[in-house]
Amino acid sequence: MQKLISFSIVSLSLFGFLACNPNGGDTPVKEDLSEEYYSGGLLGTVFNETAGAYEQPAPAVENDAAMSLAFKYGEALFEKEFTSNEDGIRSGLGPVSVRSSCINCHPNYGHGRRVDSYRANEYGNSYLLVVIDKNTQAYVPELAPMPQTQAVYPFLPPVDERGITIKWIDNYVLPEYPSMKFPDGEAFSLIYPEVTIDPEYINANPKPTNYDVKIEATIGIYGTGLIDAIPDDSILEQYRYEKSLGYFELNDAKYDPANFILENDGTRHPGRYTYGLTRGTLQNGPGANAIWNITNVTRSNRRYHFITAAYATAMSQNVDIQQKLGKSEQEIYDYLMSKELTPEMTDRDYQDFMVWHRGLAVPAARNLDDPQVQRGRETFYSIGCTTCHRPSWTTGADNYTGDTLVAGKLPRYPYQKIYPYSDLLQHRLNMVNDIRTGWCRTTPLWGRGLSQKVTGASDRLHDMRARNVVEAIMWHGGDAARARDKFYNLPKEDRDALVKFIESI
Ligand code: HEC
Ligand code: HEC
Repeated sequence: MQKLISFSIVSLSLFGFLACNPNGGDTPVKEDLSEEYYSGGLLGTVFNETAGAYEQPAPAVENDAAMSLAFKYGEALFEKEFTSNEDGIRSGLGPVSVRSSCINCHPNYGHGRRVDSYRANEYGNSYLLVVIDKNTQAYVPELAPMPQTQAVYPFLPPVDERGITIKWIDNYVLPEYPSMKFPDGEAFSLIYPEVTIDPEYINANPKPTNYDVKIEATIGIYGTGLIDAIPDDSILEQYRYEKSLGYFELNDAKYDPANFILENDGTRHPGRYTYGLTRGTLQNGPGANAIWNITNVTRSNRRYHFITAAYATAMSQNVDIQQKLGKSEQEIYDYLMSKELTPEMTDRDYQDFMVWHRGLAVPAARNLDDPQVQRGRETFYSIGCTTCHRPSWTTGADNYTGDTLVAGKLPRYPYQKIYPYSDLLQHRLNMVNDIRTGWCRTTPLWGRGLSQKVTGASDRLHDMRARNVVEAIMWHGGDAARARDKFYNLPKEDRDALVKFIESI
């Protein structure tokens, strides 16, 4: 983490600054823009637009010395490699892993980059493999839902990377706009990935058959603590509101309380994280799970490996592995499938990790008083983007009680107005070779405009198929086609202004 510059002076003077309209021009500065600079509210925003913008502690952390220290310990667990050592700092990697550190996939805490070969050790290759049954689209049971390609000697990885092919299909022709030109003649182009895994390179017994492979890229991590502070009821209200509009298909099954996601204390919550809305709280969320299932580092409440019986069977029957380990088939199988392994990560480390995770600030919006950005903002509101990219939410009392290991120890964000630009619901955009099931959560747009500066790449969408904002918008089909069509028919000046607005929030 590099905490580079404190911009508190800027933040203090902001309201006055806007009120006197520094442009002096004929575009009035809107009063209501001023608070929107605070994308993460007063407790969750940093005024930092450097290459370190995504990795700053929120004011909610900095206001507390003990928490600031825990944050620093916690961030090392995200940034540094885990090792296969049996003890010591960040030990316990394996026997199989997806990566040896989080940051490999979340470069500088942002989204990953588009790559054309799957190499786990390539920094910024953020892809998770998604191996699903061709007919049902369920994850195949022979591989973990996040299949590993790394193994500690003498084990073999469930998927050997040499068997993975990512092919980018160029010059896709959008059926609605086969000219691939805007009405004023400006051209755009679209590409998308096709992924395969040669079954020869899968180490499982039995091996999966009749499967499809997709890739999913990372979402940013900053601000997920603020999203956690939004009350469940507000999310359910958003679902009912969009349902009442009558023009969107929504993933109703997700809002049946029977399908809510189980928290450690037995409570259930609607999903709000990941494209698949598979996680309902941050403390039982993608990061809290990843620190275990990406690395296979066990902890007191996860004393087992994230692997499948089909993998354990293949490894335990492998005579070469039996000889190298000097163990029998049964012994190897029992070790791999054990539910009572010794914890490798201490509770204290896990607590620090969660303080860091919940404490990451959102970078403030930029240039909102620029007339072109204001014009883009008006367009964004008027052509129907905000129905799904809901601009703001207000957090609740934020008294988290779920996981006793961390409850009461985490940064809090009570009653903050925040601007993630997402309804936190799923929609179907019907793009070719779409995400598994076609349902995809609306990606929060906050902070994304700094991506190029922070991570070196600004690819977008769930598999990074969009090389810029215009491509991302033109992939909006299905329930977003109406808004996309309005964008398509805008004069170039308005298209440019809209893009500039999106890069500013
Ligand atoms: C293999 C690459 C990879 C690694 C390593 C990885 N992630 Fe992720 N992460 C992803 C992908 C891909 C997604 C989006 C997946 C989805 O929505 O299904 C994601 C999503 C997330 C999200 C959800 C963001 C949101 O808005 O819903 C958080 C938080 C997160 N990761 C934190 C972490 C943390 C913390 C670690 C380390 C303990 C980590 N990740 C390691 C690939 C990775
Ligand atoms: C029906 C809901 C819906 C509407 C309307 C909608 N979007 Fe989206 N938007 C989504 C979803 C869902 C995603 C994620 C899609 C994916 O990654 O496959 C998304 C993703 C995006 C992204 C890429 C985010 C990222 O960084 O990966 C941008 C940019 C975007 N939308 C802009 C717009 C604009 C501009 C409009 C108005 C013209 C708009 N959207 C209208 C649902 C919608």
